[in-house]
Amino acid sequence: MIKISPSVLTADFLTLTEDIKKLEVAGVDMLHLDVMDGNFVPNLSFGAPVIRSIRRHTELPLDVHLMIDRPHRYLKDFIADADYLGFHFEAGSDVRELLKAIKAENKKACLTIKPATQPEEIFEYLPLCDMVLVMSVEPGFGGQKFMPIALDKLKTLSEYYKLKGLNYEIEVDGGINAETAPLAINAGATVLVMGNYIFSAEDMSARVKEIKNL
Ligand code: DX5
Ligand code: ZN
Repeated sequence: MIKISPSVLTADFLTLTEDIKKLEVAGVDMLHLDVMDGNFVPNLSFGAPVIRSIRRHTELPLDVHLMIDRPHRYLKDFIADADYLGFHFEAGSDVRELLKAIKAENKKACLTIKPATQPEEIFEYLPLCDMVLVMSVEPGFGGQKFMPIALDKLKTLSEYYKLKGLNYEIEVDGGINAETAPLAINAGATVLVMGNYIFSAEDMSARVKEIKNL
């Protein structure tokens, strides 16, 4: 069954624990935490101390999406509280070394690609990945429109693991809603990140169920 990873980027942080409880009851699979540094992406969000607080309030796996330059510099800050630690192929770290370092801490390593990056560019790293994240918007902001070019990449990545007998999850992030979710699932996505579509809902629980039943 498809996994859902709600992005808390557009949530009200002062009432976040209430929302997290609702999401737990609704049956989401993890929480997606978007870390932005104002350099790799033109926006700032939150860092490790906020993730540490969230960690204390939920048992849900934390799916940390680092949108920061040279992320290896911050591995120590994020590794303890993350379950999945993801970073960008384009961010200037030694990809192989960082994937290995994350796995050495018994955490799930996730390699992320921006819309301009082709899946073929990361083939050599896939045996080290527990998850691959395909961005379906330019990273930096919630609430953007889904870019259909992501669909071919999802297909390529799901065909590749079948071909090579690999075992990574395929996550898609940006502009996922009731119209785009089925397209992404058909193309091979196994984990859907959803920000606005969940946090703008009157009834978050109903929205999670609607997507789970697609
Ligand atoms: C964008 C972030 C996303 C974003 C998703 O840079 O990586 O996780 O919050 O939000 P929606 O679902 O609203 O596009
Ligand atoms: Zn994200």
